[in-house]
Amino acid sequence: MADGPWPDELDLSRPNGARVYDHLLGGAHNFQVDRDHARRLLAANPEQQFGAQANRAFLRRVVEWCLERGVRQFLDLGSGIPTVGNVHEIAHAHDPAVRVAYVDCDPIAVAHSAEVIEGLTTVTVTRADLTRPDDVLGADGIAGLLDLDEPVALLAIACLHFTGGDAERSIAVFRERLAPGSVLAISHGSDDVDDADHAARMRAVVESFRDTASPVTLRSRAEIRGLLGDFALAGPGIVDITDWPTAGLAPRPAATWAAVGVKG
Ligand SMILES: C[S@@+](CC[C@H](N)C(=O)[O-])C[C@H]1O[C@@H](n2cnc3c(N)ncnc32)[C@H](O)[C@@H]1O
Repeated sequence: MADGPWPDELDLSRPNGARVYDHLLGGAHNFQVDRDHARRLLAANPEQQFGAQANRAFLRRVVEWCLERGVRQFLDLGSGIPTVGNVHEIAHAHDPAVRVAYVDCDPIAVAHSAEVIEGLTTVTVTRADLTRPDDVLGADGIAGLLDLDEPVALLAIACLHFTGGDAERSIAVFRERLAPGSVLAISHGSDDVDDADHAARMRAVVESFRDTASPVTLRSRAEIRGLLGDFALAGPGIVDITDWPTAGLAPRPAATWAAVGVKG
């Protein structure tokens, strides 16, 4: 396990983003403090449960899109508590040789991921902080599994809004270290949306997370585009996750931007 800025013991006194999200998706790996927070969150923004489901649907589509492009390695940052349709399950339905490295800082996410991948030689899980890219890339589970001379799909799905100002610097390091043909796929919450009421609800979500273990930072659409650096924008551009790669997949937007880029 990489050395990180987190306490080694589980903090059950405050809600945490991984477990609240698990509860929103109908999972069982959460505690009363997380379920209570989810209730407050849904009071602030009733769309949040739909947003979580839309995010998982986007994850599936973007993984399939990468596989169709021939990408055979995935580095899933902030991979979360396993739920239905994890990256390796989607990938291995296409090709069991696809390599998948999961990374999360949350001990529950890592422990349950380790159970789910037990016995698989092409999948690892590492506890590390994605804002420390050198730690991530140097960890055994990543350095020993992925070949950075070949294209990698770097997934940062619904996690960078938990990283404050560190995301830009960190993602730039990952971009630099990836081989040409690699993909960077991001989904990120935002209040930079046309619907003023939805924007206000997203700000209420930030407020609800303020004193939790997982404070939230929303980014503008331009800031999220900036996370792709000089990668060529793929698909329809920076669009709501419900519209990537095709408009109208879901009945309404999720106030979460999809940004997918390819390294030239
Ligand atoms: C909302 S969940 C998203 C899970 C998954 N990517 C998905 O889209 O279904 C966000 C995850 O990011 C993780 N996370 C937040 N900050 C992180 C950091 N600095 N390093 C690693 N993981 C982080 C949390 O522990 C949590 O599991």
